[in-house]
Amino acid sequence: MEFIHLKKTPLYRAFSELGKRIFLPDGIFYWSGRAKKEAELIGTIGTAFGFERDFVDGGGSDWMPCYLNEISEYSNLDIKNIVPYASIGGLNETREIWKNWVVKKSQYDEIKEKDLIEKLEKHITTPIITAGVTNGIFQCSSLFLNPGEFIIAPNKRWGNYDNIIEKFIGAKIKSFTFFKDQNINLESLEFAINEVAGVQDKIVMILNFPNNPTGYVPSKEEGKEIVSLLQKNQKIHNKPMVVIVDDAYEPYVYNSDSLDRSIFYDLLQLEEDIIPIKLDGITKELLIYGGRIGFITLGLKSSWVSSDQELEILKKEINNKLEGFTRATISNCNHFYQTLTQKLFKEKGIDQILTSRAKVKELLKERYEKINSELAKIDDPNISVDPNSGGFFLFLNLNPDKIKANEFGDHLLKKYKVGIIPIEKLDQQINGIRIAYCSIDLPKIPEVIKRIKLALNDF
Ligand SMILES: Cc1ncc(COP(=O)(O)O)c(C=O)c1O
Repeated sequence: MEFIHLKKTPLYRAFSELGKRIFLPDGIFYWSGRAKKEAELIGTIGTAFGFERDFVDGGGSDWMPCYLNEISEYSNLDIKNIVPYASIGGLNETREIWKNWVVKKSQYDEIKEKDLIEKLEKHITTPIITAGVTNGIFQCSSLFLNPGEFIIAPNKRWGNYDNIIEKFIGAKIKSFTFFKDQNINLESLEFAINEVAGVQDKIVMILNFPNNPTGYVPSKEEGKEIVSLLQKNQKIHNKPMVVIVDDAYEPYVYNSDSLDRSIFYDLLQLEEDIIPIKLDGITKELLIYGGRIGFITLGLKSSWVSSDQELEILKKEINNKLEGFTRATISNCNHFYQTLTQKLFKEKGIDQILTSRAKVKELLKERYEKINSELAKIDDPNISVDPNSGGFFLFLNLNPDKIKANEFGDHLLKKYKVGIIPIEKLDQQINGIRIAYCSIDLPKIPEVIKRIKLALNDF
């Protein structure tokens, strides 16, 4: 593939050496695809096939992938939807379903905002399937960051970003201080953008709302401020700005003042070369943690191409790069869970999925309210809770002059038998505990907070 249109875009300019280099060659999948259409006799793919009766007692006359009869006891899904390889980028139908889902999640009004929906449908890629959101983060970080280059992230972030970006890829994280006076610290974010723009030809950042570990979701007002800050800075620096939007906890927003749809959609609407990339997963969104299915959706700009036809070619070129990466790393993703996702949407429908999930969201919301109200009762100058209104966690800051987070975590566990995650990174002004209230039953929350309070008194 020549990548004729891709090479002209700011997206390409933002690619790492690996991003520029990688592509999916016309290998086994190409030849077997052609053979399916053109051949009379097929001997292409490394999947054992046979007539079912030849390898299963009492089997039928279908020519199908050979399988062990015993596995059919564990699922009533058709064996053809379980054992074969899924295509590299994922099952086409599952990808299309998720694309429609991304459109639906924009919450654009089907009548009043028809134009926005059309624009959205046109300017997003068909999601490629990854092995969970983690794999999407790895893939995007690799495609945009050379070793030594910077990605901007808040100082309070999911710890695995550091493993992927710094330890694995050898790139660097430019942290900004997440909060100031219970609001997002936009000055610090702007400072980080300026620093990064001063040393490299692209600005890459990762944002995650609702955030792990704090549960922070911008208010609707803050959401607008973030978007215009990025817009302003992209204009000033005139460099491609890639914003990886980690939407792992997207649906779990509990406060009506908070931004209740991904920031991806507002970034996509901008004319500037701010390239949003949406990372989704069935992990938390559909509560299938072990399914290991995620999605990467890129937002494109109309100014990059001069016709719809070019736009379609551009999408194919981008898809080829992403599939090239997948082929080289994990080859393809779990077939069973792609089928399951597909069936959920097709057979049960979005409304039923949302109704079932609403029960879980309600449980979490009650816990969110309870834990915040219990914490608010503690009058202790050595603690503060970060702003939070969504996700699975909240973060309790401890005064580092009095209490060190690791020591506190150890004491809380040993003496009071309460397990939390201490995070102590004093060089980044972080010293506190992440409480995963998603896993604590509502009636137990007061007891957890009581024990935390008792532990605080010991310091
Ligand atoms: C912010 C964030 N992103 C991504 C992930 C990983 O998602 P997945 O399990 O789909 O890889 C997590 C999981 O804890 C997370 O907290």
